Amino acid sequence: MMLSSRSRAIICALFLFLVILEVKSFVPYKNFAVPTTSQLDAISRKGKESSRLARLRVNRDRLHRVVKSIEYYGQTEGSERRASCVLLNAMRMLLEAKTQDKISHVGNLLNKIDIVNEECRPIQERVITATSLAGLVSISTNILTNMLHSSYLPSSRAYIAACSALRQTGRLEELERLIYDLAELGTKLDTAIDVVAWNIYLSSLCSSIDSPNDPTLARIWEWMQPSVAQRLFRVTPDVTSFNILLDGAARVRNTTLVERVWHDLKGQRGVEPDIVSYNARLKASSGASSRAECFDILEEIESRNISPDAFTIDLVSNHLIRAGRYDDLQSMVDQFLTDKSERDKSKALAAFLVTLVQQENIESARNLFDRCALDEPSVSSVSPCTRHFNILLDGYSKIAQLSLSKDQLALIQKTLENPSGTFDSLDLDPIKVAALTEGRELCRMVVSFGVEQDPYTLSSMISLCISSDEIIELMNGSTAPLSPAVIRCAITYLGRLGDPSQACRVFDQFAFQSYNNRVWNVLLGALSEGAKQGNSILDIKSTISSKRHVLEGKGISSLVDGLTCADAAQTLLSAMNGMMERVEAPKPNSQSYCLVAASASQIESVDPSIAMKLFRNATSDGIPADGRFVNAVLRCFGGNLEQALKFWKEEMRMACIEHESRSRTRAIPNSRRPKKNLIAAYNGLLYVCGRAIRPDTAVRVAYAMRKEGLEPNEISLNGYKAGKRQQEKLDRHKDTNYNLGAWFKFLPKPNMIQQYESLLYIECTKYNPDNKRTSNDRRVRIIL
Ligand SMILES: *[C@@H]1O[C@H](CO)[C@@H](O)[C@H](O)[C@H]1NC(C)=O
Ligand SMILES: *[C@@H]1O[C@H](CO)[C@@H](O)[C@H](O)[C@H]1NC(C)=O
Ligand SMILES: *[C@@H]1O[C@H](CO)[C@@H](O)[C@H](O)[C@H]1NC(C)=O
Repeated sequence: MMLSSRSRAIICALFLFLVILEVKSFVPYKNFAVPTTSQLDAISRKGKESSRLARLRVNRDRLHRVVKSIEYYGQTEGSERRASCVLLNAMRMLLEAKTQDKISHVGNLLNKIDIVNEECRPIQERVITATSLAGLVSISTNILTNMLHSSYLPSSRAYIAACSALRQTGRLEELERLIYDLAELGTKLDTAIDVVAWNIYLSSLCSSIDSPNDPTLARIWEWMQPSVAQRLFRVTPDVTSFNILLDGAARVRNTTLVERVWHDLKGQRGVEPDIVSYNARLKASSGASSRAECFDILEEIESRNISPDAFTIDLVSNHLIRAGRYDDLQSMVDQFLTDKSERDKSKALAAFLVTLVQQENIESARNLFDRCALDEPSVSSVSPCTRHFNILLDGYSKIAQLSLSKDQLALIQKTLENPSGTFDSLDLDPIKVAALTEGRELCRMVVSFGVEQDPYTLSSMISLCISSDEIIELMNGSTAPLSPAVIRCAITYLGRLGDPSQACRVFDQFAFQSYNNRVWNVLLGALSEGAKQGNSILDIKSTISSKRHVLEGKGISSLVDGLTCADAAQTLLSAMNGMMERVEAPKPNSQSYCLVAASASQIESVDPSIAMKLFRNATSDGIPADGRFVNAVLRCFGGNLEQALKFWKEEMRMACIEHESRSRTRAIPNSRRPKKNLIAAYNGLLYVCGRAIRPDTAVRVAYAMRKEGLEPNEISLNGYKAGKRQQEKLDRHKDTNYNLGAWFKFLPKPNMIQQYESLLYIECTKYNPDNKRTSNDRRVRIIL
């Protein structure tokens, strides 16, 4: 029982392995875009929740049995004392109690009964077990302590239940005291203590270890000597005890200790290493250079005829795949799945798929799925379920994230319709295209098999669409609930696929009444994307409608139809500020302002007054002048360099500096303050320099940063470059007869442009903080 709950815990921990992306800089669009982070963790969390529920069910069953045995105790032989009626009533109520409140209520009742004096010992023991299972820990430890102090050793079942409850509720000091009390009594009575209780204690110690040379590890290792364990705890370490220590040492990567404990384990009489022991060794050797070691261990497992468990497969799958031993992996999985119940098979396959997708082995995941779930039925076949499809679809969608122009999309669509077509002419990342193609094939399978769809399925499928019509069709045909997350996903992807009108339509149909600014910001994001992709005029009336509409007839359509994307974003912002009578909307937050600023900065002829108004409105609205926002507003000036510099000097700089000094809740030494917000603001100015193609001014801005004690860096340089790129892109879209002469008057001569750009490059790369050599330079500068 101990073992299985442990491996369950380990599998749960694996599930929780999340990928956390570190956001390093203020790069607009990337930051503002609606997060499309993997759903994998959410899918896994669902799995973890179902394991937790299963554990609860097992607990309830056991509780049921214990209460029954209290009821029947003493019924057959009349001589024994039966439980009192009050106690029996309380126990029956405990069985009925489903909520924490009700359980606590029973706890209060039990506290009023003098169990220690009124009930006989066998009944008391059962009450210890029952209250432990129900989580009424203080009652069970009370009774138990009392017993131990009067030199009565209860059955191991009772004290193991109490130990387990103490561990689960985190009362580790009490657990420790109980273990030592048990050992003391064991010595006194010259009786052995059940090793399971001790193992619970060991695993509570091991789980708190977080460094390879933690003294606890050495201490436990000493206890493993049979004579020591006998003397101190009256137990004989078993394989689980060794496994707990092995696993603890493997977790913190103390390989030497793992090897030593392994050696001890092999030498211990009557104890044989099992698969958990091997798993710990595999875990300890899971470094990059250890493939050979891993295969050695695997061979040893095979030669000893031990069956690998799910954890073994997780640990070796990456090595096997990288070594091209896919068939070996498959046969391990087959063996593992054989003879399992349908439910367990399905869960195990899902866990393997998660591991493979997380290791970016989507192809192998797909192979495994095809073999186990789609091929000819065999003993190891699994019936495919929604969760399997969700994991794979999410994996494909994560890889396939393409950012494509309209023309490219059209070409892809044509190519996908024609099976013999190729993507060669498109110059796309073949890995992404393959993921897109395979993912879409899986989507078709979901539809044609009639796989039950949930919001995760639908969201992933939407993210693999390549036209807005496809998205609408999917939503129309899906049986999945159109949850807020699905709607946000649809709006985002409609924006990315260049159909902001349809995004507005979907918003009106499904989300208009939401007072949550999250979905409103998602719509602003779609409009900003629309502004980026040519700032088309919204034509909402001509969009198609899904049959699953809910709110047709009202909404933002009438406000924004016929406007450009950038204008529509501003109108929505006004609505959010309560300036549109017919529309009720949530208040905008900092992100809303950022998105509106981002959409305004995308268009060719920017009205600088918009940037100023945005900033002033936001400031009076209490939006802090943080780096991201200030950067976005400055970009709104487009190529209006003079105005931008003026506004910066007169208004924004002060607000920024105020924010920088005000937003600290705890003091950071002045010298160490990163001043990220100010740097981001200056990077915005450099973007404007780029749009205006004024590297000379950019160099001056870089000097100004120096004077403020800031160091322009690569991101600053990229700001300038992005502005320049944007301007060049807009210029390409312009009429050919546009008057170059008027521009060139203001620009530095072409060769001067290059010279200033090299200067800017030097300014921005001079003080690379990663470069040790320059740190002396810096000190010299400050002294000067
Ligand atoms: C591993 O653990 C042992 C025993 O605690 C300790 O002596 C040794 O220094 C540890 N090794 C590392 C690399 O920390
Ligand atoms: C939505 O589905 C219905 C039938 O279920 C179909 O008649 C209608 O054409 C579909 N609409 C779209 C836009 O796909
Ligand atoms: C700023 O607020 C005024 C009124 O308070 C409003 O008329 C104007 O449209 C707003 N401008 C922007 C860009 O939000």
